[in-house]
Amino acid sequence: MPYILAIESSCDDTSAAVIYNSKILANVIANQQIHEQFGGVVPELASRAHQQNIIPVVDAALKKANISAEQLDAIAFTKGPGLLGSLLVGCSFAKTFAMSLNIPLIEIDHLEAHILAHFIKDTDEDAVPEFPFLCLLVSGGHTQIILMKDYFKMEIIGQTIDDAAGEAFDKSAKIMSLPYPGGPLIDKYAKEGNPLAFTFPEPNIDGSNFSFSGLKTSFLYFIRDQLKKNPDFIEQNKNDLCASIQYTIVNILIKKFIKAAEKNGVKELAIAGGVSANSGLRLKLQEVCNQKGWKAFIPKFEYSTDNAAMIAIAAYFKFLHEDFASLDASPYARESGRI
Ligand code: KG4
Ligand code: ZN
Repeated sequence: MPYILAIESSCDDTSAAVIYNSKILANVIANQQIHEQFGGVVPELASRAHQQNIIPVVDAALKKANISAEQLDAIAFTKGPGLLGSLLVGCSFAKTFAMSLNIPLIEIDHLEAHILAHFIKDTDEDAVPEFPFLCLLVSGGHTQIILMKDYFKMEIIGQTIDDAAGEAFDKSAKIMSLPYPGGPLIDKYAKEGNPLAFTFPEPNIDGSNFSFSGLKTSFLYFIRDQLKKNPDFIEQNKNDLCASIQYTIVNILIKKFIKAAEKNGVKELAIAGGVSANSGLRLKLQEVCNQKGWKAFIPKFEYSTDNAAMIAIAAYFKFLHEDFASLDASPYARESGRI
């Protein structure tokens, strides 16, 4: 029965988690505020901040889990996709730690981990999906509908042909001059707004693929035209604008997801990735699944956005199969044939 330390450093959050079987004992996250002023993540600053954060974050995770490093059975790290400089910090740290403790190293794909977060069982009551199930993976860099056949056996049913759903949120927020990352702020202001106040066109894309770049452009032009008439337009309509753009993005996502579920005859639907923290998306999925008599799997808030707990649960399943990495494992920035 393993204790595993997992490290996530693919973007701008440094996180360390300790798992014992499928129960998370600690999940510590250090956010990097430095990027806010630049309106996006600056890769060099991110890797430097990871270097500063990693030891204190791992130390805090071990303390919280109330175990010593010597009790660990394996060390897991995010191998990709992500920012190379950021991934390298987690990867080098994990290798060194595993080598010094003489325990196995486990490499984990960040996207698989987002989905496998659904298998964390913090209590015996936590329900987990049954294979096959369909997962809508929505993050800052990805938007995919994935048919999950087994823990590490998945098939992409559809994906975005341009921007990811997270980018649609963040770029819309930027157009409204909201700070980065704008997704959580849109969610916050949307709660006070009218989702039908403004309507934006939904794309007409075949099959289960998505497109968000047209929506971004029409939002940009709409705001630009309104600002010409009223320079205070954004400030005066912030809540309604956020509610309306969120409503449109959620509708685009859910419609395709439901169609894909019907087409594939799957009745268990999960959402994963940072955008799965969105309250509009969470509500809508639950509502649709209730209507159809399907099961909705919505990750706990702390396991939605980037975190090491999801790396830890994926590592647990690899540990059971003794699927260990070699010490010359190196990270990858882009998706790498995981499916
Ligand atoms: O999975 P994640 O934390 O990092 C990546 O792997 O990309 O996802 C980050 C994305 C960002 O685009 C962020 O704005 C979005 O998730 N996000 C949200 C919310 N929380 C995070 N988007 C909408 N509503 C939220 N509550
Ligand atoms: Zn992520």
